[in-house]
Parts: sequence; C-alpha cells; structure tokens
Amino acid sequence: MGDNVVLVGFMGAGKSSVGRLLARRLGRCFVETDDMITAREGRSIPEIFAERGEAHFRALEEEALRLLALKSGDVIATGGGLPCRDGRPAALRALGTLVWLRGDFDTVYARAQRAGERPMLAGRGREEIEALYRTREPYYRQADLTVDTTGINPDQVVSKLLLALHDRLSLSPQGRPSTLSPLRKPSTLSPLGRGQGEGPQ
Ligand code: S3P
Repeated sequence: MGDNVVLVGFMGAGKSSVGRLLARRLGRCFVETDDMITAREGRSIPEIFAERGEAHFRALEEEALRLLALKSGDVIATGGGLPCRDGRPAALRALGTLVWLRGDFDTVYARAQRAGERPMLAGRGREEIEALYRTREPYYRQADLTVDTTGINPDQVVSKLLLALHDRLSLSPQGRPSTLSPLRKPSTLSPLGRGQGEGPQ
C-alpha cells in the first residue's frame, strides 16, 4: 500500500482547500487530479467537457489514476467523480489512506455553486445534482476515514483530519506501516505537538 493521503468527496466538499492546507501542515506535496489533466491537455476542465465531452474527461481521469501509482508521500485531491466507478475506491485505497470529506448535501451544493466553474453543475437542477450525490455516496463511503466538514472551515477540517490520522496511527495493527508513514516524519508530527522520534512504532 502507498503512503499518500488521498481525498475524495463531492464537488464543494473542500478537497482543494483542505488538501493544500493539509499538505502544508504535513510538509508534503499537494497533487490534484484535475490539475494533472488540465496540464496534460493544455485546456481547462470546462473546455475539455465542452470540446470533447464527459466520456473523454473520464478517460483522462483513468489515465491520471494510473499515474498516481508513481506518487509517494503526497496529499492527493481527486475530482468529485473519479472514485465513483466500481473498483475505484479500492484502487485509491492502494495509494495510501483514503479520506472522504463528507458534507450535508445542502452544504456542499451551496459551496460548489459559489466557487469554480463546474461543468457537472451546468444545466442541471438541484434535484438532479442531489440524485448524483446520492449515487456517489456509496463510493465515497468506502474510504478508510470520513471527516464531516459541515459547518466548519478548512482549517478546522484539517485539524480534525490530523486527529483522525493520528487515531488511525495508534489503532493500526503492525504490518500496515505504509498507512502510517505520512505522519512519521518529524515535521508531520509537530502540528500536534509531537517531536522527532516520538511517534508510536
Ligand atoms: C467533477 C468534479 C470536478 C471535476 C470535474 C468533474 C465531478 O472536481 O473533476 O468538473 O464529476 O464531480 P471537483 O470535485 O474538485 O469540483
């Protein structure tokens, strides 16, 4: 198993802002699958949807997922639809600790509409988006950890997430060391007041 922290969740869950902050707190690199895709294509996500369609975008996500196998020790934010195919949650869990940033539908819907251009929202009503959210939940639910983001800001989500990662660290059985390694480095322990070499073995 890899030693990345992989964030999943619906549009508006806060994957980008939380991921960026978490990476800073852990002294890790931050990677977004949407950025991998736009860099490769030289076009924005709305342009890809408009010019090549959703199916092409999903194929690019598949390729981005394959490339993630090369990542180690990173914080990775995935696009909201990437985990939502059979076999995807398992493939993502193989990369490290899989974290679902959960939020009540009303909360994430409001956030998703406020920020960013999201082709999946264009031309769809609230009910249709809620139906999409419900079909995606079973995939997100397969994450190793769930952090509820409802009513709290990204900083608070990161604090909760770091605690959950530490709990997982202390509860994890021996023999799954890669799950723990994102928190092993001294710099990763300091935000919670732990110094070099103090982490449980
Ligand atoms: C999508 C979510 C977007 C982006 C694309 C498709 C989706 O990412 O990957 O527009 O299907 O939910 P965010 O979840 O970061 O908005």
